[in-house]
Formats: sequence, C-alpha cells, structure tokens
Amino acid sequence: MKQIFCSTVSSVGMYVPEKIVTNEDLTKLMDTSDEWIEERTGIKERRFVESGVATSDLGHKAAIDALNKSRIKSQDLDLIIATTLSPDFYFPGIGVLIQNKLSCDAPAIDLRGQCSGFTWAMTTADSFIRSGQYKKILIVGAEIQSRVIEFSNRGRNVSVLFGDGAGAMVLQSREVEHLPTATNNERGIIDNLMGSDGSGAEILAIKRPGMSGEDEFITTEETSEKAYLPIMDGRQVFKNAVRRLFESATTILERNKLKASDIDVVIPHQANLRINSAVAEKLGIEKHKVMHNIQKYGNTTSASLPICMSEACDEGKVKKGMLVLTLAFGSGFSWGANLIRW
Ligand code: COA
Repeated sequence: MKQIFCSTVSSVGMYVPEKIVTNEDLTKLMDTSDEWIEERTGIKERRFVESGVATSDLGHKAAIDALNKSRIKSQDLDLIIATTLSPDFYFPGIGVLIQNKLSCDAPAIDLRGQCSGFTWAMTTADSFIRSGQYKKILIVGAEIQSRVIEFSNRGRNVSVLFGDGAGAMVLQSREVEHLPTATNNERGIIDNLMGSDGSGAEILAIKRPGMSGEDEFITTEETSEKAYLPIMDGRQVFKNAVRRLFESATTILERNKLKASDIDVVIPHQANLRINSAVAEKLGIEKHKVMHNIQKYGNTTSASLPICMSEACDEGKVKKGMLVLTLAFGSGFSWGANLIRW
C-alpha cells in the first residue's frame, strides 16, 4: 500500500533584538508623530539590531528556539529553508550561513518571497514532506531592515513601518491513513496557496544594486543618492494587499468547504493593522480570532508570521487541534496562505 505523509507543526520559535525603538524615538529623526504612525499602521515600537549583528545571527537564534521547543537536534534535520529580503551577502543566501551556525549538514536552500516568503516556504516544505523525500524540515525567516531604511523625511513613509527580527518553524512528517482535511480532525497542513503578480514588482522594491541592465552593479552616483533604499507606493500596496489577502482566504475557505466562522485563528503577515482589520471585516471573521503583534515589532517581513505564531502559541491563543489560517502579502507582488490543523 502507498505510504501517505502529512506535515505537522512541531514547534515555532522566535528571536527579536533587545533594542526597542519607539515612534517617539523616530520623531527625533524625521517629521512624524506617534499618532500618525499608530493611526495609520497600528505600530507603537519596533526592534533594531546593534552593530555587529547579521541577519543569519537572528535566524540562527530563532532556529535554536524552535529546535529546543521541538527537542530536535540540528543534526537530525533533513532540510533547511531560509527566507529573507535582507541577506548577509548578495550571495550566498542565509540558508547555508544558518546551517553552518547550527553545525549540521542538512541541505539549505533560500526562497525569495519577501513578506510572503514564510508562507511559500511552508508550502514548499509541505510538498517535500508529502512526497516522502524529507521528514524534518526547519524553516527560518529573518530580517534586518534597520540598515536599509532612511531615517529622514524623504524615507519616512517606509522607515516607520519596518523592524528587525526572526522566526522559525520545525515541520515534521507523520505517516497517516488519510491526509488532513478541514473536517477529519487529522493534525497537519491541510492546504496551501501561492500567488504572484509581477506587474507590481516595482511598486515595492529595492532596485539597485542589481543586474537590471545598467553597466555597473551600482554606480558612485547611485550610491551617493542612496538608490539602494526601498521605494514604495504605499496606497497601491495597501489596495493590492487587501484584495489579495481577501481573495486568498476566500479561495482557501471555498475549496475546503469552510465558512469563515469555522476558522479558529487567523495569523496574518504583520504589515499594517488596518490592512488586516479590513480583510477580517470583509471575511466576516471575529476580531478576537485575528492575531496581531505589529504594535511591538512593526513589519518584520518574512519573520512576521513565525514571530506572530510563536507568541500566539506561547500565550495559549493557538492550541493543538485548532484550525489556523495564515495569510501573507508583499513585494512582488506576492501572496500566500496555509490552512493548518494545529
Ligand atoms: N509621518 C508623517 N507624515 C507622513 C509620513 C510619516 N511617517 N509618511 C508620509 N507622510 C505624509 C505624506 O508625505 C503625505 O503628506 P501630504 O499629504 O502633505 O503629501 C501624507 O502623510 C499622506 O501620505 P500617504 O502616503 O498618502 O499616506 P497613507 O494614508 O497612504 O499612509 C502608509 C501611508 C505607508 C502608512 C500606507 O499607505 C500603508 O500602510 N501602505 C501599505 C504599506 C505596507 O504595508 N507595506 C508593506 C507591505 S508588505
């Protein structure tokens, strides 16, 4: 008989730097205010790394937390999937750096999905586990944004949004008679969704340095103009985020024959409290079921989902047996979702 494998979430871990930067702190660097930031985004403070710390260091610490919680040794991992938009180096990616810091020899791949990176990595890991190829997979999302944002009036629409941090998840294979479905109470990942729309690629991006056709990786002029900082049309991002997050949730609900009220917990990417509230309202999901911690950490891009999951688990808001929906949207445009019986 053919063996059937499903992926169960064994643990979720996180790490954020100690240094807290409040909205009030930012008002000393640019014309902004605590009210402006909180009213539009929900953010009150974020964490920034000290000098000397690398993105892979944050990822390593989150990975250790996840491994300790699942009591798995790094040497027993079959695969590491890392995701970030702020890697230590242009190449190689942070996957191999984290693998080296964990002193293990599992293959380590990097997956570029920006704010959707973690949902895409979960989808990828789930496919490897279902195929029977791997049994223990570590996923890490880690970001240092504080070094690529501009603390001045020019960059204020972007710089107030982002924070540094890392999260990690251990997914394990389990042999089952029937794959988990929304109705059979089998624990594990039930469904995944990934989406992209490259026509939005330049609406939220860091375009230089790069190989976009210019003769140089980055010119001296571009460097002095700080062309390496992110650009964003906030309103376009906002509109597309609400649309794609709503569509993703609706698709997952419809194809699993679920009503919004069947979902126990929604864990959305933490980009903006108003985006997530608008999506929850359109879906008709009760406010208390939607997890938020953007107030404390800002948008930590690929780390935001596992950081939010980790806290929700630690606080007892996500428990075994619950039906959990993750949702993410970001640069690309990219979006994704996972339906999990926790
Ligand atoms: N503090 C104070 N004023 C600011 C500011 C700041 N940090 N940033 C921009 N402003 C000003 C603008 O200059 C503009 O001034 P003007 O009216 O005199 O021209 C005014 O505030 C309104 O700017 P606008 O960009 O239209 O504001 P908004 O209501 O769209 O809010 C965002 C801006 C960025 C908060 C909002 O668009 C947003 O959250 N978008 C989604 C971004 C996101 O989530 N990105 C990551 C996706 S993964």
